[in-house]
Amino acid sequence: MQPKFKKMLYGGDYNPNQWPKEIWDEDMKLFHQAGINSTTINVFSWAKIQPSENEYDFTELDEIVDTLTKEDVQIVMATSTGALPAWMVHRYPEVARTDFEGRHHKFGHRHNACPNSPVFQKYAKRLAEKLAERYGDNKNIVCWHISNEYGGECYCENCAKAFRVWLKDKYKTLDEVNKAWNMEFWGHTIYDWDEIVPPNDLGDGMPWGSGTAFAGMSLDYMRFNSDGMLNNYKMERDAIRKYDKETPITTNLMGTYKGLDYFKWAKEMDIVSWDNYPSYNTPWSHVAMTHDLMRGLKDAPFMLMEQTPSQQNWQPYNSLKKPGQMRAQSYQTVAHGADTIQFFQLRRSVGGCEKFHGAVIAHAGTADTRVFREVTRLGKELEKIGSRVMGSENHAKVGIIFDWENYWALEYTSGPNRDLRYVDQIEQMYNYFYNKNIAVDMIPIDADFSKYDLVAAPVLYMVKDGVAESLEAYVQAGGTLITTYMSGIVGQSDNVHLGGYPGPLRKMAGVWVEEIDALAPEQRNKIRFADGTEEECRLVCDLMHLEGAEEIAQYESDFYAGMTAVAKNQFGKGTVYYVGTDLSESGLAKVLAMAADSAAIQPVIGEATALEITKRQADGEDLYFIINFKDEEIPLPAVFDGKEDILTGEKVQGGEMLKKYDLRIVSVPRA
Ligand code: GLA
Ligand code: ZN
Repeated sequence: MQPKFKKMLYGGDYNPNQWPKEIWDEDMKLFHQAGINSTTINVFSWAKIQPSENEYDFTELDEIVDTLTKEDVQIVMATSTGALPAWMVHRYPEVARTDFEGRHHKFGHRHNACPNSPVFQKYAKRLAEKLAERYGDNKNIVCWHISNEYGGECYCENCAKAFRVWLKDKYKTLDEVNKAWNMEFWGHTIYDWDEIVPPNDLGDGMPWGSGTAFAGMSLDYMRFNSDGMLNNYKMERDAIRKYDKETPITTNLMGTYKGLDYFKWAKEMDIVSWDNYPSYNTPWSHVAMTHDLMRGLKDAPFMLMEQTPSQQNWQPYNSLKKPGQMRAQSYQTVAHGADTIQFFQLRRSVGGCEKFHGAVIAHAGTADTRVFREVTRLGKELEKIGSRVMGSENHAKVGIIFDWENYWALEYTSGPNRDLRYVDQIEQMYNYFYNKNIAVDMIPIDADFSKYDLVAAPVLYMVKDGVAESLEAYVQAGGTLITTYMSGIVGQSDNVHLGGYPGPLRKMAGVWVEEIDALAPEQRNKIRFADGTEEECRLVCDLMHLEGAEEIAQYESDFYAGMTAVAKNQFGKGTVYYVGTDLSESGLAKVLAMAADSAAIQPVIGEATALEITKRQADGEDLYFIINFKDEEIPLPAVFDGKEDILTGEKVQGGEMLKKYDLRIVSVPRA
């Protein structure tokens, strides 16, 4: 069972250690005024707590914890292991990372520890243990926050050694490694474990995003790196558990961040938390998708650990959030499954590269700012509705598979088109459902598909053992599956499934793809549907033959004009749609509409609207989050007429106009 907080956490990262004590008192007043009930502390304090190898000093942290406890502010306690102390790097250079270019780093930045350094592990574990021993029974600590935004990778000697151990465990023999990585290619055969080197710039790697000479090897390094960091997380988690058996433990994730297999991570986390930093031009659909992904990791409500109250500092253009935008963004987060709203940061720092990062309390230091007023308004609202919303559930009949190993493999592979990006492909499908207010679950490759009427598996490039079988069983039992070009091509090591594409999906898709054409950015083809309508396509074009499937659309030009571009196959009691090319938005919408129709997928409400509408099911009531993210005013759908808005307690009127960033949270009692 997922832990549930007593109240909806509202607050965020707080670094009183950067400020004199008088300011702390001022902060407490301002927090209460804004309805802030929680702070995330100790995120980057390792150097302060452990000034040297055998010395720990908790004086200041004790004072911070006491101050907050006295004021009854809840605490999310971080373990501080996200940034190394300078003395440690100086004394033990091995704790620093070696980067992709092979350069061993000196002291600097953060998120900088080699995940396989025994020295780092020893001191990180000890620190987590000491913190838990000291603060584990403080009732105001409602959550532990391990490290910070795990990510990056290291290619040092310690990592090389650990990689060999990881490989031995996975493959047992060198023969198996050679086979998995197809090392006959370019005469790479390995005869001794020590001959294996991490695939960075000095070896078989190419800079991130641009490929590798041996995808099997690079994929294993990604898996190894993700597992290694996860081991560090588990090490700190277990150290905390020695002293604190109950308080939920998390670490803050980063949405579609590529480097870590978050589905695997989530299994080790009590609750998922994540940091949401859209830029001024990030589509709201993208943000919604990322929330759905974060909820999907555990199929449960999550924490929004960080967002900025207004401005960013590290993006190229750090625009202010417009009046009402932060509120709308926060409710979108809650709508898609968040049970907390937390900010980075509570007070804007005086120096360092984040001094221009937005904060609840600005450099002016007063409550008399637009941002503070907006934060206060939201604080009061969440206080009012929090208990009604928390723990409520999002349900969907559409599942979109998001698989980190596919993400890595698709983007490592050389050819056919370097512009093929995993997240873009997922997003294209997601957008169709988003625009129609059809709820979507982002699901792992090993999900229980039977919960869904429609499963989308875009660019399912890597089909590992067992995957085709479970998809077949799902379709045979009546499910609808949509898959696309670049699916079913390789197995777990990026070696091709021989016998014709889409390999293990061929039977259920009822097609054989003989060749795959690549279109340059300026090139297009066209497809024509049976009803005569035409749509554009780009990027890649499968040249396929029907093997029992029925044609939905065919190419219009090039030497493959007249060949099938989109097909549909009856398989058992279900249907598989195979989309052989990257369709325009309207073209894809046509195919997805057919699939959604045949699977009898329903939107959240019957009426079409440009408002974003999401439903969370609470005790005895359905809560509809209705938000206007569009530039024009939009009427509230008639179905809500006379229903209660839980923010105001008043009844809403169908047809009332919602301006940009206006929203309603409407309760519909469930029979
Ligand atoms: C990340 C980090 C924070 C802070 C913010 C700034 O999310 O976790 O420490 O640097 O970015 O946006
Ligand atoms: Zn390393």
